[in-house]
Amino acid sequence: MRAEDIPMEDSIWASLPVPAILVDADDVIVDINPAAEGFMLSSVKAMRGQPVWDRLTIDAPLEEAFERARTNTTPLFVNDVDVGTGERAPLHCNLQIAPVQGRPGQMLFLISPRELAGRMTQSHSVKSAAKSAIGMAEMLAHEIKNPLAGITGAAQLLSMSLGPEDLELTDLIVNESRRIVKLLEQVEQFGNLSQPDFRPVNVHDVLDRARRSALLGFGAHMTIREDYDPSLPLAWGDQDQLLQVMQNLLKNAAEAAGKDGGTITLHTFYEHSFRLRRSDGRSESLPLQIEIIDDGPGLPPEIAADVFDPFVSGRENGTGLGLALTAKIISDHEGWVSVKSVPGRTVFRISLPLAAKDKKE
Ligand SMILES: Nc1ncnc2c1ncn2[C@@H]1O[C@H](COP(=O)(O)OP(=O)(O)OP(=O)(O)O)[C@@H](O)[C@H]1O
Ligand SMILES: [Mg+2]
Repeated sequence: MRAEDIPMEDSIWASLPVPAILVDADDVIVDINPAAEGFMLSSVKAMRGQPVWDRLTIDAPLEEAFERARTNTTPLFVNDVDVGTGERAPLHCNLQIAPVQGRPGQMLFLISPRELAGRMTQSHSVKSAAKSAIGMAEMLAHEIKNPLAGITGAAQLLSMSLGPEDLELTDLIVNESRRIVKLLEQVEQFGNLSQPDFRPVNVHDVLDRARRSALLGFGAHMTIREDYDPSLPLAWGDQDQLLQVMQNLLKNAAEAAGKDGGTITLHTFYEHSFRLRRSDGRSESLPLQIEIIDDGPGLPPEIAADVFDPFVSGRENGTGLGLALTAKIISDHEGWVSVKSVPGRTVFRISLPLAAKDKKE
């Protein structure tokens, strides 16, 4: 078929880069465009004839404004609402609703998810903040380690000629110095992080390894549940670096739970429509989703906006590098990490690209 044989409105409908839904005067779905199929994780066929409010949940009291828009044939704009589809967690969206000219009662919904746009800037600031703070810290780490080794050595020598009460003091020097060395090593590890060695990776293998090591160590007091999509294709990534990411997230969840423990859920699923628009205009498909969900107290509100920045910690002995390292690794993977947290439910989500052979582009 030649281009001019396809009716213009069909082309436009199919090309609209935002999810669009057409409903009739009774709020029954007449048509959805391909972007909306992706958004609703369903097909036009399945959606046609369905009451729109069974398929779309909007967490705002819209009914009155919506009916007014329909009666007065005026458009309605609603910003910053959570739109859910029943198939997955709600997304933060802007909505544009317009009466369709010449078709009384019919309304057109355009849904623009805001998440990606909003979070994009976050990733960039994470990257540059991490870079400068880490460069500085690396230099300091290097400079501090040598004198510290001297101090520890001197304290140990001193302890040989001291009585029991004073030994406590040299022990304190040695132990605190060890703590500083550990911290410095973490900082150095951050700086040494090499580029990922990309290969096809089975994320369930990675999650299993992380889960096993967690249960043997820092997460022994936790219950770790698996909620896997067994048909999930392979990811494109560095297995060891991704393992480190999963361990950091499990460790945080275990630490947040406290000694009484709690439940961590490892959730994987495929989200066909998850794309990331990069600052250079390229749009990247990141359909593999891994969520680490815990039922702990949630992010401390005062640091919630900055948890991916280096040296931001809400824990007494935390260095605040775990999530900064996670953000750096995932960003080197051209992936995406985000968090949603309320007391009782914290979800860290990693979105990754497919391994090359599974890519359909
Ligand atoms: N699952 C979670 N639940 C509640 N708070 C969390 C969770 N994950 C992270 N946080 C908060 O975010 C802070 C930053 O985490 P991050 O892993 O970057 O550093 P850290 O755990 O404090 O130190 P490090 O990981 O370097 O040992 C934590 O101190 C904690 O307050
Ligand atoms: Mg941590």
